[in-house]
This record gives sequence, C-alpha cells and structure tokens, in this order.
Amino acid sequence: MPANPRFLMCPPTHFAVDYVINPWMEGNLHSTDPARAQSQWSALHEVLSGLARIDLVAPGEDLPDMPFTANAGLVLGDVFVPSRFRHAQRRGEEALFTEWFAQQGFAIRQLPADMDFEGAGDALLDREAPRLWLGHGHRSDAGIAQEIAAMFDLETIALRLSDPRFYHLDTCFCPLSGGWLLYYPPAFDAEAVGAIASRIPESRRIAVSEQDALAFACNAVNIGTTVVVNRASGELKATLAKAGFEVIETPLDEFLKAGGAAKCLTLRLDER
Ligand code: ARG
Repeated sequence: MPANPRFLMCPPTHFAVDYVINPWMEGNLHSTDPARAQSQWSALHEVLSGLARIDLVAPGEDLPDMPFTANAGLVLGDVFVPSRFRHAQRRGEEALFTEWFAQQGFAIRQLPADMDFEGAGDALLDREAPRLWLGHGHRSDAGIAQEIAAMFDLETIALRLSDPRFYHLDTCFCPLSGGWLLYYPPAFDAEAVGAIASRIPESRRIAVSEQDALAFACNAVNIGTTVVVNRASGELKATLAKAGFEVIETPLDEFLKAGGAAKCLTLRLDER
C-alpha cells in the first residue's frame, strides 16, 4: 500500500434525487433527508480521514449527484482523464472536476468527444497487477478499453454489465489488496465472468450474495487491510476476515436512494 493514500470527496450540500437515471432512483424522487445525508457523509469522511488524506472539491449547486466523486474521471499517476457523462443531468460536473484537477497540477487527457465514460465508477485498477478493469453496457462505452490502453501502459479488460441495478462496475466489483476480488457474478455477462476467472484465481475471488450486493457491499473503499462499506452480512465479514480484512460499516442509506454508497462517494487520487 502506498504510504499516503489520498481521496477526493465532495460535500453533499446539494445532494438530492431530482431525476431518475438508474433503477435505484426510481421511487425515491425528492425523498432524501438532507440532514441525514450530511451526517452519513460526515461519518464516512471521518472514518476515511483516519486512514487517508481526504481532499474536497466544492459542490456545484444544480448538480445533486456531484458527491459521487468516483465518477469525476480516471486518475493514473499525474494524469486525469475526465468523464463524459452519459446523461445530460450530470454533464455540468465535467468542467468543475476538470478545473479542480488542473488546479492540483494533474495533466488533463481528454477522451474522444463522442464516447461515454463515467470515470472510476467504471474503471477500477487492479490493486496488484498492472491492469484496469472497465465496465460497460450501461454508462460507459465498450470502446473505452482501447482508448485507455492506447494512453497508458497497462492491460485493459472490458467487462459487460448485464443487470441494470448494477449499472456501474464499482457497484458489483471491487479489486482488493493482495490480489483479492470482491464481486457479484450475476451482474456480468458470461464472457465477462470468464475474463475475470482467467485472471483471478478462484481462491482469491469472493463472490457476494444478492443480499450483500443489494446492500452495496461491493461498493467498498479498500485501504490496506481495511474495507469500508455501507453494510456487509455476518457471513461476508467472516469471509473477509479469513482473507485478512477488517470491515468497517458506516450506514449510507440516504445515498443508496441515488444508487451509490461508500466507494462512489470517493475517488482515489494516489494511483500509480
Ligand atoms: N445517481 C448517480 C448516477 O446514477 C449515482 C452514481 C453512483 N456512482 C458510482 N460510482 N456508482 O449517476
């Protein structure tokens, strides 16, 4: 683990469910409790502050999903590849995130304007091998794998997502340190399941139950041997403990109404 893990978060000042762009938001229009969302976000911020440096980006007023900083873009070394959001409701975030990264000294590399890409929501670095797992099928284009492979020296693996409830890769897939993988296999098509199986030995794959997947257990922030999640079953906690991980649960149900949890609310900034 790098000595100084660093993450980007965005305060949920304007967080709300004001439109529906994923199945979780359906039935939750205008149903968030701002005070509760703020206190759940602050609790996550506090847990992570004990394990890493947390930077903040200022929230945009009409951008209720901006607290989901995972979708800002892809960070690799000192390069930032901004997202190109599939849905118009989130496109206003692109300029604000790009400006923040430019100010921090990151080099900005743009993807072709006609491609959709939702950043670390769909692009997850393996914690051990030089490979980038890319989700597509709902928000990001399949062609992103070639684009990123041409920009960086790493293997990119395109994984097709097949269940609309798990519309971003980080809702159902989480590479952990030590080469472990936390994932929910039914969220992927057969080819993707095969691509995963051919690279991660069975003994390192932790498949979660549907119940854990729906509690966003795969939407985990992993720092060293700590795994921070909304919620995990006793069974999953025991499996993770056997693999050497300690689980910290911090309730984020206000954010589940928008289709996100711990990992979505953070973006790792110190990626090699
Ligand atoms: N409401 C947001 C959306 O649909 C939630 C984003 C969650 N982020 C994530 N990385 N899974 O775009």
